[in-house]
Amino acid sequence: MVVRTRVNGEWREADLWPGASLLAFLRDHLGLYGSKNACEQGECGSCSAWLDGALVCTCLVLAAQAHEREVRTVEGLSDGGRLHPIQEAFVESGAVQCGFCTPGFVVAVADLLQKESNPSPATVREALSGNICRCTGYAKILDAVNLAAARLRGES
Ligand code: FES
Ligand code: FES
Repeated sequence: MVVRTRVNGEWREADLWPGASLLAFLRDHLGLYGSKNACEQGECGSCSAWLDGALVCTCLVLAAQAHEREVRTVEGLSDGGRLHPIQEAFVESGAVQCGFCTPGFVVAVADLLQKESNPSPATVREALSGNICRCTGYAKILDAVNLAAARLRGES
């Protein structure tokens, strides 16, 4: 079946197996490798992206469900090769080790901060509870969230 989706502002399409996931569409057919495939079971958050503005695990969404809809991936956050402030904060805070989880965290943090500019520590932990990192121990990721939130509020 042909799936046609607006991805990061551009209409893209591919002829796919009807059971193909949105993650497979993005990675295998569109060459958008920012969304990672770590568990393919909705457990780790590494494949996170937005579907019509809602945060989803793309491994759990059929590509067919994205037909004639809007998808935004981590690639859509950077501005002409310039990192998004959240990405910069992750780098500066040492919140990236192997980096496999990082795009999913960045998308989840962006989703949180666009809804709430000054989230409490508990809110941050709750918002990121669907994202797993095997390397960092999370402390530096939380530092990165605080730094990014402050910068996006214009405080530093
Ligand atoms: S790969 Fe989708 S949640 Fe882990
Ligand atoms: S930095 Fe390696 S899994 Fe998070």
